[in-house]
Amino acid sequence: MVEPPAGIVPRMDEPDEAELTYSTYLRIDQLLSLQQQRSEPPHPEELHFIVVHQALELWFKLLLHDLERVVSRLDRDDWPGALALQRRVNDVMETGLDQMRSLHDLPPWSLQQFRSYLGTASGLQSVQFRELELLSGLREPGYLKALETFTGGALPPVLVARRNARSLADAHTDAAARLGITDWAQFYVDPGPHGAFYVLCEALVDYDERWVRWRTEHVALVERSLGARIRGTAGTALRYLERTTHYRYFPYLWDLRNDLSVRGGGELVGD
Ligand code: HEM
Repeated sequence: MVEPPAGIVPRMDEPDEAELTYSTYLRIDQLLSLQQQRSEPPHPEELHFIVVHQALELWFKLLLHDLERVVSRLDRDDWPGALALQRRVNDVMETGLDQMRSLHDLPPWSLQQFRSYLGTASGLQSVQFRELELLSGLREPGYLKALETFTGGALPPVLVARRNARSLADAHTDAAARLGITDWAQFYVDPGPHGAFYVLCEALVDYDERWVRWRTEHVALVERSLGARIRGTAGTALRYLERTTHYRYFPYLWDLRNDLSVRGGGELVGD
């Protein structure tokens, strides 16, 4: 018997290969049965609205899966491995941004024609979105308080677990401590032998920046499709979403830019 190459786990069962098709492997029938329009008669623009939301939830699933792997690679001091995966995570964020952009074409009057069928459903209730924020490292007191409020004081167990678990930001700061980095600005002036870690830090800034863009573009999308003064289906005002654009997962990687500018002769201004 020929031994399988190292790293390849052979299948133990003997499924009938002839029965496995594109459709059965990917469960296309089930997937395509999930876009259930609620408007009556079905509004032609509602399908697009549903597809974009569902597609983003699928990408969120992959992001959660891959970010956990970035955390474990960081914990193993595997900078190239963490960087390779973080870059793909960033590409997926970019893909999500592009897909959400396709909704900017939604005619505002069309949205009004099916919006009432959404009831109190809102992106605010996306559990995976909250998991991503917590896994990435968001722990600002104002944010955690808002989460409690939105969930009626009873954070779902999956979010409690994420809040208590090790985040990407934890893994990154611990890795930096192991390398002896105490002054981020100095590290950016001269990373010395840790150039690979510097590149990884910048990939995390890219990740943070994509989130800022996601939040900012989502605000623009809401303003464009609903208006700036309309209450959302979850009851919030646009100001709430605008405030979230200030969140950063790696604030120290942004702050160091101020320090570098001061070192370069720049002057800090107040808030
Ligand atoms: C025309 C399209 C969209 C409109 C009009 C819209 C509207 C809103 C509004 C008004 C809110 C504030 C919460 C509320 O009171 O309901 C919100 C939050 C949110 N939406 Fe959207 N949205 C749109 C598209 C999307 C898409 C495609 C996603 C992707 C999953 C999404 C995900 C979210 C998330 C995660 C939040 C919570 C953000 C946070 O709390 O930081 N939205 N949306």
